[in-house]
Formats: sequence, structure tokens, C-alpha cells
Amino acid sequence: MAHRSSSSSVISTVILAIAFTLVPISSSFPFIVLHGISEQCSGDRVKQFTENLSNWSKSNGYCIEIGNGVWDSWFLPLEDQVEEVCDTVVKKMKQLRKGYNIVGLSQGNLIGRGVLEFCEGGPPVKNFISLGGPHAGTASIPLCGSGLWCVLVNKMIKAEIYTDYMQGHLAPSGYLKLPYNIPSYLEKCRFLPKLNNELPDERNTTYKERFSSLQNLVLIMFEQDTVLIPKETAWFGYYQDGAFDLILPPQQTKLYVEDWIGLKTLDTAGRVKYISVPGFHLRISDGDAKQYVVPYL
Ligand SMILES: *[C@@H]1O[C@H](CO)[C@@H](O)[C@H](O)[C@H]1NC(C)=O
Ligand SMILES: *[C@@H]1O[C@H](CO)[C@@H](O)[C@H](O)[C@H]1NC(C)=O
Ligand SMILES: *[C@@H]1O[C@H](CO)[C@@H](O)[C@H](O)[C@H]1NC(C)=O
Repeated sequence: MAHRSSSSSVISTVILAIAFTLVPISSSFPFIVLHGISEQCSGDRVKQFTENLSNWSKSNGYCIEIGNGVWDSWFLPLEDQVEEVCDTVVKKMKQLRKGYNIVGLSQGNLIGRGVLEFCEGGPPVKNFISLGGPHAGTASIPLCGSGLWCVLVNKMIKAEIYTDYMQGHLAPSGYLKLPYNIPSYLEKCRFLPKLNNELPDERNTTYKERFSSLQNLVLIMFEQDTVLIPKETAWFGYYQDGAFDLILPPQQTKLYVEDWIGLKTLDTAGRVKYISVPGFHLRISDGDAKQYVVPYL
């Protein structure tokens, strides 16, 4: 009897050892990359970034293109971009069926979070790695070059941002949060108030459950970020309502304190990593990418 139980414990130790060898710290799930505004998967920067992460993590990575890339990243409302990724990508790609990780670049983070929170019947999201995400909104439209769309965008920005027309035609209007115009933002902005469960009468516990089901949330902020206003939005920090003179750290925002989407829940469980790296918006070094992104892929 004693002999049998000790041999079974040897066997279970061996099985445990094998299990640990087969389940490395970095996950074996594939990942998707959701790029930012004015970018596309076929562009050198996004393409090399996705390839680098695959090469370094040895996990399969897929850059997900929405519509025609650059143009739609500006003009397709975020709710439609989320729906497209939900219906035509994450529910259809058999590689993602057992679960996957999301790597978000800038605006792509809000699409990723939309997929996480809103996508009915999608596969589970394991880790969410955010680089320069405007999670709590931004008080300025992302910088633009001089392309045709930029001319259009500038024309549009001159009009009111919280109008139905703007909300239906300019993607960043879905997360432009002007601190001195919070009532209009809450009433008219179609995307971020819903994503962040900001509307008192419309808080949806399903969004919170899904968000707080993440294994890890990695929030990377760029110290010289001049695209996100303020840069602390990458950590869910933001201006206090009504003014530009005080930036609340994430833990002092109502979203956190009242735990609207489960950020506090995740943080209390030690699953939120607040990372600050040197560099301009999205300019992550190879070393920082290896240190802060790759371990979660
Ligand atoms: C990734 O690895 C492949 C194979 O070694 C290589 O050809 C490719 O250039 C690498 N990608 C990048 C962006 O360095
Ligand atoms: C990825 O790879 C390319 C070329 O191989 C390199 O120039 C680029 O800076 C790399 N780094 C990141 C973080 O994408
Ligand atoms: C919350 O969201 C879920 C998923 O989208 C939806 O099924 C449910 O009806 C929503 N609940 C409320 C109260 O709006």
C-alpha cells in the first residue's frame, strides 16, 4: 500500500513537472496586432513590429487590417471597426479559437478593448498589451501629416466634434474627451462613454466581467508622447472633469474608484502592469519590447 502510494506520488510529480514544462511563462496563444490611425498592416513599421514580436516570442502574430487600412482608420466609426474585427476576424479565424492575446497600438487599443468587451461569442482574450492607448480619451485629435485625409480631417475638426455627423464620420471623435465639455461628451460621444461604462444609467456588467477576465493588462506609456493629450491616458489617467490643470492618476479617477469596467478589480489582483518607457508615441525600443511585451505573448 505504502509502496503504491509513493509510486503514484512519483508519477504525479512527474506529470506535474511535464505540465510545467509544457506551460511556459509566456503564453502559447497567438496574438493579433491592431494598428493605430494613419497606419496599415502593409506599412513597414507595423509589419516589422508584428514580425519582430512573432520572431522574439515564437508565437504566431497577425496584423488585422480593417477595411482599406489608413483611410478607414480615420473615417470608419470605431463601433463599426469593432464590429468588423469581431464578426469577420476573431470569430472566423480558427487559429484564435482557443484564445488569443491582443497587442494594441494607439487607437487600435480602443478597437481591441471594444472587441474584448462587446464581441458576443468571440474566443477568450488572455493578455492585453497596450502601447500608447487613449484609454481615458484624448483632448486633441492625433497629429496629422499633409495627405488628402488630413485636409479633410482639419475641415471636419473645425466643425463641432460632438455632432451626429462627426460621430458618424470621424473615428477619433469617438474618444475625443474635452474636459471642459463633459456633458456634451457624455451625451453625444458614441464610443468611449460606452466602452468605459461612463454613463450612469447604462453601465453594463457584462463589459466589466469581460474586461476583468484578462490574465494581464499591460499599459505602456511613452514618456515623450505628444500625440496623446495627456500621455497619462495610456494608463487610464486623465484630466479632472472641467479643467486642464490637474491630471488624475488612474487610481484617483471615478472609473477606477467606482470600478466601472473592472480596472480596480484587475489592479487589486496584481494583473495590471503600469509601464513607462522613454520615447515618442509608439517608438518602443527593441529592448523595451522584449522586456515588456514579449513575455506576455
Ligand atoms: C523575423 O525572422 C525572419 C526569419 O529569421 C527574418 O527573415 C525576418 O527578417 C525577421 N523579421 C524582422 C522584422 O526582423
Ligand atoms: C523590428 O525590426 C526591424 C528590422 O528588422 C527594426 O528596424 C525595428 O526597429 C524593430 N523593432 C521594433 C520594436 O519593431
Ligand atoms: C450588456 O451587454 C450585453 C453584451 O453586449 C448585452 O447582451 C446586454 O443586453 C447588455 N445589458 C444591458 C443591461 O444593456
